[in-house]
Amino acid sequence: MLKKPSKVQGFEILYDEDTIKERVAELADRINLDYADKTPLLLIILKGSFIFAADLVRHLNIKHKLEFMTVASYFDNDPHTSGELELRLDLKRNIDGEDVIIVEDIVDTGKTLNYIYHSLQVRQPASLEIVTLLDKKESREVDLSIKYSGFDIPNRFVIGYGLDEAGFFRNLPYIAMKEEER
Ligand code: IMP
Repeated sequence: MLKKPSKVQGFEILYDEDTIKERVAELADRINLDYADKTPLLLIILKGSFIFAADLVRHLNIKHKLEFMTVASYFDNDPHTSGELELRLDLKRNIDGEDVIIVEDIVDTGKTLNYIYHSLQVRQPASLEIVTLLDKKESREVDLSIKYSGFDIPNRFVIGYGLDEAGFFRNLPYIAMKEEER
């Protein structure tokens, strides 16, 4: 029997595997419907979105393409990225006239996604939408229109299902939230 990763101290489970699976399938179904007559390009933002994206695309039954992009903050270890952002792995192809869907793991202040959105918008895609698994709405600092969102979560630090703490815990099959300090 394979041993599953054990519980991480200081974190409580927020969404278990089944709950995530169900919600990801629902998001994919909505994309399947909305893009039924299109061939979208899904732009996966590394690294955090890799597991979400892998599960999402396996529920898609429309023809689509995938590309990957990395955005780095100069404050890499601070989740509240307030500093300069830089495209590390920029798109090597044109996206003009394409229906682009940005695939993100989590939106916090919204600064990262806002930066990505505007860097892509100037390349004149036919349409540009966002799918995020998690949304910390309370901490939003910039206006963003998110068409597909998995879960609205409280303004607490989360790990697992691709999300890390200092590079660790991306492999957890569930999403766990930092326990409040007493
Ligand atoms: P934003 O620019 O403030 O929206 O931050 C978004 C980025 O911060 C995400 O792409 C994550 O890399 C990181 N982040 C924000 N909140 C969390 C969290 O709770 N856990 C892990 N990473 C987070």
